[in-house]
Amino acid sequence: MEDCTFVIFGATGNLAKIKLLPALYRLDAADRLPAGLRVVGFGRRDWDDARWRQQVHEWLADKQPDATVLARFLERLHFYQGDLGDEAAYGGLSTFLAEAHYSPNLIFYMAISPADFGRVSRQLGAVGLSDEDGGWSRLVIEKPFGYDLESAESLNARLNRDFQESQIFRIDHYLGKGTIQNVLVFRFANLMLEPLWNRNYIDHVQITHSESLGTEGRAGYYDTSGALRDMIQSHLLQLLTLVAMEPPANLDAESLRDEKVKVLRSIRPIHQSAVNAHAFRAQYVGGRVDGAKVPGYLEEPDVPPTSVTETYAAFKLYIDNWRWRNVPFYLRTGKRMRKNNSMVSIRFKHPPQQLFRETHIERLKPNWILMNLQPHDCIRLEMQVKQQGLEMRAETTRLDASYCGIAQAQLDAYEALLLDVIDGDHSLFLRYDEVSWAWRVVDPVLKVWSTERDFIHTYPSGTWGPKEAERLLERQDQRWRNTLEEEGGE
Ligand code: BG6
Repeated sequence: MEDCTFVIFGATGNLAKIKLLPALYRLDAADRLPAGLRVVGFGRRDWDDARWRQQVHEWLADKQPDATVLARFLERLHFYQGDLGDEAAYGGLSTFLAEAHYSPNLIFYMAISPADFGRVSRQLGAVGLSDEDGGWSRLVIEKPFGYDLESAESLNARLNRDFQESQIFRIDHYLGKGTIQNVLVFRFANLMLEPLWNRNYIDHVQITHSESLGTEGRAGYYDTSGALRDMIQSHLLQLLTLVAMEPPANLDAESLRDEKVKVLRSIRPIHQSAVNAHAFRAQYVGGRVDGAKVPGYLEEPDVPPTSVTETYAAFKLYIDNWRWRNVPFYLRTGKRMRKNNSMVSIRFKHPPQQLFRETHIERLKPNWILMNLQPHDCIRLEMQVKQQGLEMRAETTRLDASYCGIAQAQLDAYEALLLDVIDGDHSLFLRYDEVSWAWRVVDPVLKVWSTERDFIHTYPSGTWGPKEAERLLERQDQRWRNTLEEEGGE
C-alpha cells in the first residue's frame, strides 16, 4: 500500500470525531496503515499540531487505546488552520503540503456540509491539488450527494470540472458493512441458491432499517432531508441492488457497478399519480422507547413546529426484468422505532400443493432467508420440520450461519472503506450513474410529497411504525417482518 497524505476537511467536526479518527486509529492498531501515512486536519480553529493531537487523544480515550499504538498514531497527525470560504487557505494548504514533504499522494476527505462540496473541490482544482502529476489525488464525498436528481447532476458537473470520475470516491457507509459484502458471497458462492433466486420461488423481499434513536441533534440536516433521502435513496437502494443484481463478469469495480446500475435502471418508474400506492410516509410523536419517555419529532430541538418531514418511509418497488418481474420489493425505514434492526428478509412462496391439509398442520409457514446487518450480523434460513411426537405437526427451525449471535470484534464499516480509498479500489463506492438512477427512482415521490404539505401520518415512538403502512403490502398474507426472531414479531 502506498504512502499518502489524508487531508480531512471538517477535522474538528462530528464525523471526524465519531468515525474517521477512530477508524484510522484502529487501522493503525491492526498494522494496516502505510508507514508514511499522514493525517492533516483542516479546520478553522486556531490550533497547532499539539492541540489537535490532544483533541484526538480525548476522542479516542473511550476506545481503550493501546499506549504505544496511540503514540505512533498521534505522531501522524498535523493541523492546518484554514477557513473553507477563504480562497487563500487552499494555496496555503498546497504550500504547506509541499514544504512538509509528506507523500504527494493525496486524499481529500469532505467531512463537511454538502453545501460546501462544490466550492472546496473548485478551490482544490484552482491551486492544482487535484492534479495527478507527482502522485495521485482522490476526493472522498459523504452522502447526501445532491438533494434530488437535478441538484445531483449539478453537483457532479461541478466536481467534474476539477476531478475525474476515477478520482472521486462517493461513500455509502452501508457498503462497508460485513453482511452487505456477505450478500455477494452468499449469493454467488452457493450454487444451491441460484435456481431459487427469482420470481418463480420468491414471493417478496423486504429491506428494513429501523432505529430507536431520534434525530440526535441533527435536526438541521434531517428536517431538510427526511427518511426517504436519508436512508432509502442511498443505503436501502444499494442493498436492493446487491440482492437483485445478476452475477457480475468479475469482481472489479466497473463490472460490479455495471450490474448494480442495471438493477436501478430496471426499477419500474413510479408515476406521480401512483405515488400513494407505492410510498408511505409518517412522523413520530412522543412515546416510550425501552421504557423511557421520548419527545415527538416536532418537539425535538431545531425542528420547525409545522414540519411535515417524514421520519418513517416505506416503499414498494418492482424490478422489471426476467428475474424479478412482479416480485414486490418493500423498503422501509424509521426513526424512534421499537428497536434497532437492519435486515433483508426474503420470503419464499408456499409449496404448490397443500399436502398437509388433512393433518394438524393448519397453515404452513413459508421459508424465509434473513440477512441481518445489525444488531446481529447474521444469515438465517427458516424451514419447516416435523415436530417431535406422534402427531403430524410442523414447526419452524432455523439454520443460522455459524457466526450468528457471536459477538465480533467491533469492526466499523469505515475501516474497510478508508482502506479501499487508500488502495484506490472503487468497488464499494458509488459511481455517478448509480447515484443518478437512484434519484430517478425516488424523485417522483419526493415531488408529490413536497406539494402535500398539510398532513402527515404519525406513529408513537417505540412502535414498529404506523399501521396504515400495511396498505402497501400486496396481499393479506404478507406482513412486515420486524425482527430476526419472529414473523410479525417483537
Ligand atoms: C446515516 C443516516 O447515513 O445512516 C442516519 O444519515 C442513520 O440518519 C445512519 O441513522 C444509520 O447508519 P447505521 O450504520 O447506524 O445503520
